[in-house]
Amino acid sequence: MTAFGKRSTAEEVSLGIDLRGRHALVTGANTGIGLETTRVLALRGASVTLACRNTARAEAARASLLDAHPSEITPDQLDIAALDLASLESVRRSAAEWLAIGRPLHLLVNNAGIMIPDRRETADGFEAHFGTNHLGHFLLTRLLLERIRASAPARIVNVSSDAQRFASLTRELTDLSWTERRFSGWRSYGDSKLMNVLFSNELDRRFAAEGIVSNALHPGLVRTELGRDQSLWMKVFGLALLPITKSPAEGAATSILLATSPEHGERGGGYYADCAPSRPHRLAGDSLVAGALWKKSEELTGL
Ligand SMILES: NC(=O)c1ccc[n+]([C@@H]2O[C@H](COP(=O)([O-])OP(=O)(O)OC[C@H]3O[C@@H](n4cnc5c(N)ncnc54)[C@H](OP(=O)(O)O)[C@@H]3O)[C@@H](O)[C@H]2O)c1
Repeated sequence: MTAFGKRSTAEEVSLGIDLRGRHALVTGANTGIGLETTRVLALRGASVTLACRNTARAEAARASLLDAHPSEITPDQLDIAALDLASLESVRRSAAEWLAIGRPLHLLVNNAGIMIPDRRETADGFEAHFGTNHLGHFLLTRLLLERIRASAPARIVNVSSDAQRFASLTRELTDLSWTERRFSGWRSYGDSKLMNVLFSNELDRRFAAEGIVSNALHPGLVRTELGRDQSLWMKVFGLALLPITKSPAEGAATSILLATSPEHGERGGGYYADCAPSRPHRLAGDSLVAGALWKKSEELTGL
């Protein structure tokens, strides 16, 4: 049990933790929860790669962190990797470039995500939530896995969402790309977030014995840019929820807790919210579904 909760901040949960000599890669690090995660990891001494699809935004984010912490974060702690999770080719290129640098990888934070109301496709023709939130991270993680194994003890933190309660995923994994069903943005987003937990659990099942701890989490309802593509009505509805929302500092707390606390470096396969264990979707713990999704994702990404 931790003493932290819904209003704890990422800085509070990592007070006193020394990450000097540790290297982290955070996807979607230029804004929202990913930016705060990056900031606090760097503040604790880690070197962090901001893996982002828009390198101009990534550069601006990096500059803002260095401006905000001139005496605490040094320029050599932050570097940028171009990564578009909606393109398998970009993921492959990014992983290859990153591996070529030759540094260890102690912490991978699979944070980036989209939440959109309409059916779009990735460069490879997958429905966008499935392709970006799940397949992109699946391929990235798999390609970096050898380096993560070599860097053990290591952690993988997967940012999911309680929106998985809207998931319509079946045990048979039918129609993952939504070509046969009537499209629903919420269900599709929920499916991809359930897949984040299934993947996290399967990673833990396969690699815990090699010193890789993988956990998943719901950050809470956080004031970020995630709803940028939602309709005006949804945005108005979002305003009504403001009193129960979290700041990015609070929203990144569970990610940072799982990424840094000694207690959470021991055991993986968990799902957390508000810095405490939480209950995922009923399918999340099904190892047969997780194994089947792993295999299917390997086929679809050409592994
Ligand atoms: N905010 C919430 O209430 C909430 C609740 C539950 C779960 N989550 C999860 O938290 C995570 C972070 O979201 P957030 O709230 O911080 O949202 P955000 O402010 O919209 O940030 C999302 C990040 O993901 C990046 N991204 C999107 N598509 C990408 C792609 N194809 N390739 C690489 N990066 C991409 C974005 O890059 P650009 O800036 O270039 O678009 C941005 O950096 C997501 O996984 C989300 O599902 C958020």
